Amino acid sequence: MPAWPSADGVWTDLRLAPEALGPDSAAIAQAAIVVNAGQIAWVGQHAELPTEHAQKPRHDGHGALVTPGLIDCHTHLVYGGQRANEFAMRLAGASYEELARAGGGIVSSVRATRASSEDELFALAVPRLQALLQEGVCAIEIKSGYGLNLASERAQLRVARRLGEAFGVTVRTSFLGAHALPPEYAGRSQDYIDHVSHDMLPALAAEGLVDAVDVYCERIGFSLAETEQVFQAAQRLGLPVKLHAEQLSDMGGAALAARYGALSCDHIEHLSDAGIAAMRTAGTVAVLLPGAYYFLRDTHCPPIAALREAGVPMAVATDHNPGTSPTLSLLLMLNMACTLFRLTVPEALAGVTRHAARALGLQDSHGQIAVGQPANFVLWPLQDIAELAYWLGQRPAPRVVRQGRIAN
Ligand code: NIG
Ligand code: FE
Repeated sequence: MPAWPSADGVWTDLRLAPEALGPDSAAIAQAAIVVNAGQIAWVGQHAELPTEHAQKPRHDGHGALVTPGLIDCHTHLVYGGQRANEFAMRLAGASYEELARAGGGIVSSVRATRASSEDELFALAVPRLQALLQEGVCAIEIKSGYGLNLASERAQLRVARRLGEAFGVTVRTSFLGAHALPPEYAGRSQDYIDHVSHDMLPALAAEGLVDAVDVYCERIGFSLAETEQVFQAAQRLGLPVKLHAEQLSDMGGAALAARYGALSCDHIEHLSDAGIAAMRTAGTVAVLLPGAYYFLRDTHCPPIAALREAGVPMAVATDHNPGTSPTLSLLLMLNMACTLFRLTVPEALAGVTRHAARALGLQDSHGQIAVGQPANFVLWPLQDIAELAYWLGQRPAPRVVRQGRIAN
């Protein structure tokens, strides 16, 4: 755990954002937060601060706007190389699917990742994580999926764990061995899925490296049946599942994932009404990834109005990855979720706090400012929560209390 100063004491002169204390909680103009032993001990109107806390050390919030710590619930943060060449090729007319079928895409990042040592992968990931942390991220999901063999998938997941320890940030790992077919399995998709399900996943889970299991279910990824086989392996190990679903086409992945009680279905540009109904019944979170939508110049918007109508919780994430979303700004994703997907600002904010927590199974410890939970909150030098989505591409440099420490 890094040696940042403890945040214990009474934080005063805060303006609490609406919903910071949970669904439908109101904004509080003159708020205080008490942190004790790294946890939230009290939160409310300063005028009502219990006398037992009155003598504790003070931290002056200088009128900052306060939100829960942000959560980036979908990233591929650990990888080697970059794919700017593919970006240029797509600008010249090639499609993401064409590049993937021609041996580029995910597989080209697999080559670069396999060629990198664990320490190299860690060094590459550090500045990426730091950029997210500077924007108030307190919890992050990190997927594997650029190794596609046991050693290299393990290296990615170990790096994810190391990042969590080195930066005092909550990291949830997702094993994404079924991200693409590695070249050595060309024409043998079923053999690879057998290997993922029977060998790789059990081994990595036994090493404590897997918090959830993800699959890329797509024409250029894996079929519905292959996805289900991986989900069954996850179920045998008691691991929750999530899915890259209906990004480029409606494969019916969301309904399958919902049947397995998925934490989330992510992308979902082509999600059907049946998929929405299944997610609603299962309580599965819809993770919106406007960075990938923008970067691929997609025009098929996820069915936001229908998701809203059905009451499916919507989260927003960066999907940081070298192919479809090289962004390291969750605030930029808030902007895009509002401008491209027409979320309201409060919806977008819930999407990077409470609903993002649920997409990671962290709803009891993250995503709101609640007594007894670890102290994760952000002090923004802003007047209005709309500014979180408004300063297009700017970074408002907040003060951050992360896991009970003053991290920046
Ligand atoms: O979330 N769509 C699949 N996976 C990633 C992209 C991975 C890549 O192109 O390297 C995504 O968009
Ligand atoms: Fe992704």
